[in-house]
Amino acid sequence: MKRTRIAGIDVGTTKICTIMADTDGNSAPRILGVGIVPSRGLQKGMVVNVNEAKASIKESVKKAEQSAGYKLESAFVGVTGRHITAVNNRGAIAITRNDRLVRGDDLKRVLDVARSVKVPNDQELLHVIPRSWVVDGQDGVKNPVGMHGFRLDVETHIITAAATSIQNLTKCIRGCGIEIEDLVMEPLASAEAVLTDEEKTDGTILADIGGGTTDIAVFKDNSIYHTAVIPVAGYQVTRDISVGLDLSFELAEEMKKKYGNVLPGEADDRDDDQTLTEDGHSVSYRDLSEIVRVRVEELLRLIVLELPRSDYSKLVPGGLVLTGGSSNLPGIAELAAAVTHLPVRIGVPMNLYGVADSLYDPCYATGVGLVLWKSRKSEVGTATWQTKHGMRNWVNRLFHFFK
Ligand SMILES: Nc1ncnc2c1ncn2[C@@H]1O[C@H](COP(=O)(O)OP(=O)(O)OP(=O)(O)O)[C@@H](O)[C@H]1O
Ligand SMILES: [Mg+2]
Repeated sequence: MKRTRIAGIDVGTTKICTIMADTDGNSAPRILGVGIVPSRGLQKGMVVNVNEAKASIKESVKKAEQSAGYKLESAFVGVTGRHITAVNNRGAIAITRNDRLVRGDDLKRVLDVARSVKVPNDQELLHVIPRSWVVDGQDGVKNPVGMHGFRLDVETHIITAAATSIQNLTKCIRGCGIEIEDLVMEPLASAEAVLTDEEKTDGTILADIGGGTTDIAVFKDNSIYHTAVIPVAGYQVTRDISVGLDLSFELAEEMKKKYGNVLPGEADDRDDDQTLTEDGHSVSYRDLSEIVRVRVEELLRLIVLELPRSDYSKLVPGGLVLTGGSSNLPGIAELAAAVTHLPVRIGVPMNLYGVADSLYDPCYATGVGLVLWKSRKSEVGTATWQTKHGMRNWVNRLFHFFK
């Protein structure tokens, strides 16, 4: 069977992860090349220095190409940052054909109506995701194609992002000679890598706690219910340690990764009174753990506050799935369960084939999800950004032709 090449680039605040793979369209993609490098020129998920960011993306792509043995031409690219906003919008159309049979074209047409929400000039449409369909007032329809009706409604989740942030990111990627197949909001990509179909159906909240942002996606009835980005993550934890214990940022980061623990005594067997010495600096283990716990506990509270309903245990019986690099902190699942009263687990990318050994870590959920995106996304309505830009190119070409 013919295999097609796919790739994802996760431009994270702390690292760039390029994954090259191929797929036969049925089974899981086979990972052929991985390039992971520290990122420069990014803050809170956004490009703040195009030249620096471009250089680190280039480096990451080069590494992946070396291991895959071919040139990367196009990729799915992750987007995050506080500039991302989401609204739910409804669209409706009449089915006027004699047979009153809903066809695939009708789905496209009703989604076009739903996506015609007024997007401010400084925003770009990223995703228009159908959440549920209604045929002649009957809601909860999973797939209306083939049903009879006079009227078709769709409930959509519409995600937009600041045009300037998108321009900076796309400039970096295209500057590396890479075409963007589509832009994907990062928690949606992470969800593809770490959530099960049951979790998405039952109702689950996913929180990708990275370096600069915590990206949230709530799933219910196998579709997206809510998305949000909180500009607090691992970076703030490190900063608190650095300020609180008078250490350089680099040393604070090293201490956090080596000894950081939100439930000392429970999540490890180290003595509470111990003094930790690193690079000539001594700190109390108790102080370090306390600083980390306070910040992480605050962040966990912010995560549940994002749930649109206060009786959230009914909304998300599937619980909370934590992923992203900061979910490596020992004790975080136990602390999260105590704070949220939800079942909590850590989401790690699984069942990968090929040269995937380095990817079994929650910090690669977004990168892996970008590679899975094309095969997992629903048939219609998600490839919004590229559809729009593809069309714009097409119109431009036509315009030049007539000129
Ligand atoms: N073992 C560990 N213990 C504690 N924190 C860790 C550990 N490993 C990684 N981290 C933290 O995870 C963060 C990086 O996570 P990740 O790679 O998911 O972020 P990113 O994708 O670069 O950033 P973002 O998604 O916010 O743009 C850093 O703040 C780092 O300190
Ligand atoms: Mg990330």
